Amino acid sequence: MTRIGVFDSGVGGLSVWREIVHQWPGVETIYFADQAHIPYGSRPAEEIRVFGREITRFLAARDCDAIVVACNAASAAALAVLRAEWPQLPFVGMEPAVKPAAELSRTRVAGVLATPATFQGALFATTVERFAAEVRIVQQVCPGLVERIEAGDTNSAETRALLGDFLAPSLRAGADTIVLACTHYPFVRSAIESLAGPGVTVIDPAPAIARQLGRVLPALGSSRIAPSTTPCREFVTSGDAAEFERVAALLLGFRVAASAVRWQANQLP
Ligand code: DGL
Repeated sequence: MTRIGVFDSGVGGLSVWREIVHQWPGVETIYFADQAHIPYGSRPAEEIRVFGREITRFLAARDCDAIVVACNAASAAALAVLRAEWPQLPFVGMEPAVKPAAELSRTRVAGVLATPATFQGALFATTVERFAAEVRIVQQVCPGLVERIEAGDTNSAETRALLGDFLAPSLRAGADTIVLACTHYPFVRSAIESLAGPGVTVIDPAPAIARQLGRVLPALGSSRIAPSTTPCREFVTSGDAAEFERVAALLLGFRVAASAVRWQANQLP
């Protein structure tokens, strides 16, 4: 059976994981949430690379056939290095969805919501240069938003107020398209949509990432059909397993069972 490793700094990558199991219901997955180190978005790239390498080693040792880096910050900081160090292992990473935004936007203005690490990475600059040179991109960091989503708060008055502040510069500039370039943010998509109004399209790259997985791993084709029993779906956190389970249930709408592992001197067991 095909087995996919998925990782993020926390629960955000579940927005990608749910698309993977929706499109490939027969697949086995192991999801790793590096909650001991969250947030990644404000850390230096070198540090994120250290974590990404060790998490990849951990997942590869558990017989994963491919790895999904379900974190924009980790993709920006570490994807190229991971691909170079595990040449046999297919990787799919997050790329800010400025290409579809450039294709969709009529006003030629798109807002991108992300963490600082994503904007600082070369991946963002090259993606904008290649695909969105003709479009005005309004970059918006969202301090505090990842922490709220990690706490399971996706629609309180405080979260909506924060989102209103984060959307304002893009909307003032005339953006009709908002790109979610952090995998946590799809969990506040409905709040964003209601604040931005019907004239604004919100882009979540997760469905495209799940499709891309089928392209880099042709063996995944056999997972397209739902089997009679649910395949093994494992969840591991470097934080608190009960808290992961609580928030994952809120975000996904169903319960999952998680286990915890501890980092020791930058190494996982
Ligand atoms: N979910 C991660 C991303 O896509 C970042 C969250 C964090 O800052 O840890 O960028």
